[in-house]
Amino acid sequence: MGNVKKSSDDKANNEKTDVERRTFIKALTASSAALLLGGLSFESYINPTAGKTPVIGNYPVAVLVDSNRNPIKADAIPAATTSSSSYPIMTFNYPLQDEPNIVVKFGGLTEPIPDAVALPNGEYLTAFSGICQHLGCVVPLLDYHPHQSIPFEAELIGYNAINWPAYGLLFCKCHGSQYDPTRGPHNLYNSGPAPSPAKHSLPQVMLQVDSDGVVYATGLNPANAVIRTHLWEPGGEEYGTLVKDENLSGGTPLPKYDGPTLAISSQYTGTLYKTIVVSSSNGPWPQK
Ligand code: FES
Repeated sequence: MGNVKKSSDDKANNEKTDVERRTFIKALTASSAALLLGGLSFESYINPTAGKTPVIGNYPVAVLVDSNRNPIKADAIPAATTSSSSYPIMTFNYPLQDEPNIVVKFGGLTEPIPDAVALPNGEYLTAFSGICQHLGCVVPLLDYHPHQSIPFEAELIGYNAINWPAYGLLFCKCHGSQYDPTRGPHNLYNSGPAPSPAKHSLPQVMLQVDSDGVVYATGLNPANAVIRTHLWEPGGEEYGTLVKDENLSGGTPLPKYDGPTLAISSQYTGTLYKTIVVSSSNGPWPQK
């Protein structure tokens, strides 16, 4: 009798475990599908329909402005160090209206960041495309995580406090692509416990700071990759001068800057555009 009771308890437990397992697998499948759909739907949203029609003749010069349309100064952007435990998301569109990028600043580096802006206090300011080079997931799925803030998804592929780099990584939570922002244009990171599924570095946005400290986006680093959403162009996966034309095909131009005269106006007489930096609320951004 005792054995019969034990056998029926075991059966009940096994059935319960099976149900839990099926529920877990269903949830996992649903969340994976949601991620995939998210990536695909964004790609279809952002891919310009009039792909080969340039909407602007060259990379625009665009002043970074806050949500009140005030130009942003480099010293108002928080700097990540090796002891940072969080960093705000700061994203802006460039070179076209529907192409997000991530701006990051670093302090305490012993080596300069290639092609970044060297600030007078020894900090470095740079920006990268916020469109993952793997399948096109965007901010905030692709985001910068400093040394003391390892994303859960990175821990799942083997990262920990020892092997997460001193200045962290730009990490894509969709499928685990990793990019080291301290390496400038050649930022694809495959030195961790799991390789990046992406094949290219994130395109680096060229920034400039004027004599008043105001920040501008002025182009994309020609040493770098094509923006993910332009890889469909013939030859789009090659690096080089072709990038310039491809990046400006389709999409919507940035709005023109119409605020007070800026210091850059004494050297630059072309059309000045503006791009709004949108930020998460957990950081010191925006500062007045
Ligand atoms: S879209 Fe796959 S890792 Fe980013």
